[in-house]
Parts: sequence; C-alpha cells; structure tokens
Amino acid sequence: MPVALVLLLALSSVIPINARGYGAGSVCDLGRRPNTRPHSVSILEFGAVGDGKTLNTLAFQNADPSHWKVVDPLPSYGRGIDLPGKRYMSLINGDKLHDVVVTGDNGTIDGQGLLWWDRRPHLVEFISSENVVVSNLTFLNAPAYTIHSVYCSHVLIHKVTANTSPESPYTIGIVPDSSDNVCIQDCRINMGYDAISLKSGWDEYGTSYARPTANVQIRDVYLRAASGSSISFGSEMSGGISDVVVRDAHIHSSFSGIAFRTTRGRGGYIKEIDVSNVHMVNVDTAFLANGSFGTHPDSGFDANAFPLVSHIRLRDVYGENISVAGCFFGTKESPFTSVLLSNISLSMKNSGSSDDSWQCSYVEGSSDSVVPEPCSELESSYGIAVAFVPT
Ligand SMILES: *[C@@H]1O[C@H](CO)[C@@H](O)[C@H](O)[C@H]1NC(C)=O
Ligand SMILES: *[C@@H]1O[C@H](CO)[C@@H](O)[C@H](O)[C@H]1NC(C)=O
Ligand SMILES: *[C@@H]1O[C@H](CO)[C@@H](O)[C@H](O)[C@H]1NC(C)=O
Ligand SMILES: *[C@@H]1O[C@H](CO)[C@@H](O)[C@H](O)[C@H]1NC(C)=O
Ligand SMILES: *[C@@H]1O[C@H](CO)[C@@H](O)[C@H](O)[C@H]1NC(C)=O
Repeated sequence: MPVALVLLLALSSVIPINARGYGAGSVCDLGRRPNTRPHSVSILEFGAVGDGKTLNTLAFQNADPSHWKVVDPLPSYGRGIDLPGKRYMSLINGDKLHDVVVTGDNGTIDGQGLLWWDRRPHLVEFISSENVVVSNLTFLNAPAYTIHSVYCSHVLIHKVTANTSPESPYTIGIVPDSSDNVCIQDCRINMGYDAISLKSGWDEYGTSYARPTANVQIRDVYLRAASGSSISFGSEMSGGISDVVVRDAHIHSSFSGIAFRTTRGRGGYIKEIDVSNVHMVNVDTAFLANGSFGTHPDSGFDANAFPLVSHIRLRDVYGENISVAGCFFGTKESPFTSVLLSNISLSMKNSGSSDDSWQCSYVEGSSDSVVPEPCSELESSYGIAVAFVPT
C-alpha cells in the first residue's frame, strides 16, 4: 500500500489535473437554498406566471413570431450564432439579475421549436446574473439552446429535463458560457446536437471580452446527443474553459460522448478537465477531440491565436456498442498535451478489427488500463509504471 501511494503521488506530479470543485463546499451545494431566496417565479405552463410572486424583471417574450424582439449581439461573440449582426431575444430571459429561482413543480415549457428554426432564439437565457437556480422543470423543443447562462456566476441547474427531436438542427441543452461556479445535477437531456456544451466566446470577440467558463460541476446526468456530443467543450472557447468536473454521466445513442473542439484563431484554452464514472451505450465515437473544428465570426480573427488543450483526465469509463473509441486530432502548432486516460473499458461494435479504434495526431498523454489499447501517442512510459502498482 505505501508503494502504491508513492506511485500515485509520482503520477500526479507528472500530469497534475487540478480541476477544483471536489467534495464538500463544492459549487453543487452553493445554490441549494432555494427557499431562502428573495425572488421566485413559478412557471406552470408556457408564458403563464403561477403563484403571484411575479418577478417582473424576468421577461417572457410574447410567443407571436411577428413581434419577436431583436437585440444586440453578445459582446463575446460579436454577432448572432447563425447570422451576422443582431440576434433574436430568448423566450424567457433575465439580464443583470441576482437571486432568481425558476422552478415549476416539474411543469413543462414548450418552445415549439419548429416555428422558430429560421430565427433560433434560445429558450431560457440569463445574462450577467448571479445566484440563478433553474429546477424541477421540463423544457421541450428549444429552437437553439434550451438554457444559456452567459457572464453569470453561481448557477444551479437541478432536476431539469430538456428534449428536442433527434433531427432538430443544432439544438443544444445546457450551455454555460463565460460563466463560473456552475452546477448541473440530476438532469436528463436529449438533444439534436449537443446535450451540454461549455463555451466562452468566439475568436477576437471572446479574447477581448476575456471571461472564462470555470469551476463547473456536472453530476448524475442522463444525456443523448443525436448528431453532436453529449458533453462538449467549445468550439467557441476563446475566453478559456477550466476546472470542470464531470462525474456519474450516462450517455446513450449519441454521435460522440465527450468532445473537445477548437480551431486556429480561437486562442483561449481548455484545461483542468476531470471526467469520471461515465457509462456509454450506443455511441459512435466515445472521445472526440478536434483541433480543426468550427468557423470564424468574420475575417477579423488572429490566425496566430492558437488554442491550448491540456490537462484532460478521462477515467472510469465503461462503454458498450462503441464504434470508435477515440479520435484526438491536435494540430502541429497547438498539439493536445497531458491527456490522461485510465480505467477505460469500451466494448466495440466491430470487435474484430480494432486497429483504427483510436486515431491520434499531435496529441501527447498517457494511459493506464485502457481497452482497446490506445494509440502510442497516449501511452507515455509512466502509464506503464502505474500498471504495475501492487494492490
Ligand atoms: C417530470 O416530467 C417528465 C415528463 O414531462 C416525466 O418524464 C418525469 O417522470 C417527471 N418527473 C417527476 C419527478 O414527476
Ligand atoms: C424540486 O422537487 C423536489 C421533489 O421532486 C423537491 O424536493 C425540491 O424542493 C424541488 N426544488 C425546488 C427548487 O422547488
Ligand atoms: C449500436 O449502436 C448503434 C448506434 O451507434 C445502433 O444503431 C445499434 O442499434 C446499436 N446496436 C445494438 C445491438 O444495440
Ligand atoms: C474535425 O472538424 C473538421 C471541420 O468540421 C472536419 O472536417 C473533420 O472531419 C473533423 N475531424 C474529425 C476526426 O471529426
Ligand atoms: C473502473 O471504472 C469502473 C466504472 O466504469 C468502476 O466501477 C471501477 O470501480 C473502476 N476501477 C477502479 C480500479 O477504479
């Protein structure tokens, strides 16, 4: 036992993953005092405010498309997601609020996405707000993002169900964006594109706004992402993403399980990410890291702004019916570094030819107890030493 301890300490000095937010006092406990909050809103059905304690600063859009409000783009994006210039306001939105609870006794809010696909507002958006709780609600058919928190601190998303049809284009469930101290717990999310996506601004706009997404916990989630990834980082990450802990995630019927996306011109970083206890079923690519992914807002980006992707730990993962175990495609100018894989067991759809079950370029890291065996780039020597730790 002392031998094992020494080796584990040695391991952490080779690749320290310092994602904060473990244990007591974590972000998942911070917001958990809904009854002491001064303002609360109960939404029993779309557009209707329930119990008389209306918080009039939380706005509900009129659901008539011809009266849809157009607002300024977010400063960290410089434009709308799909279109240059302005963007459509979200259905439910709050700007510069604090101590807000949006809860609904498991009521349903239906965004009627089909009506909106040409405009793509988000269903719920909080901007520059603090101490926000969204809980016990079911959201259906968001036209774009279901819950978008941008420039927020202390956000708790608890017991939320969010569904869109698997065919819905680019729908994303929960998007912590340039936000810190975020907890997503006990949620069920089924989306056309990504279930949970962490972001922090787009190219030169995100770089100058410089607000990272940090200290995020994701726990006890059931996720499905038909054409994207159940959990993704980026591709808009120019303000940086760090200190993210994902634990106890159930991922099914998804194109990819965990994805890291970035590209030249983004700058920023994705680092100190710790993912553990993940169960994946019927997933095409379990881990997908792509360093040449995504477009630019305009031609003003700095082509020499290379993103950093480093200190990523993926451990205790069990997968069934997986087609590709992992693709890690860094680039020559910004290789992915310190990727640590341990205790990963993936049973492959075509178990015969496992030669291409991992595909790697410009990535460096190590692995311990990983099946199928990863590419050599992810097998630095210390990983072999750890494999001999006596138990
Ligand atoms: C909440 O509603 C969803 C469907 O809208 C349902 O699947 C789920 O079981 C409900 N949860 C509770 C605790 O009632
Ligand atoms: C959500 O519902 C659960 C019961 O399913 C309840 O214990 C909890 O207090 C509710 N949370 C809020 C914020 O209303
Ligand atoms: C395996 O997963 C694929 C999706 O990646 C799915 O279409 C297929 O039905 C699954 N097979 C089984 C046996 O569940
Ligand atoms: C990376 O993203 C680019 C652009 O979307 C795409 O062409 C390429 O196929 C992706 N690579 C992988 C391995 O998915
Ligand atoms: C390996 O991961 C599985 C979950 O996939 C977990 O149940 C098991 O305890 C882990 N083993 C070790 C030695 O940590």
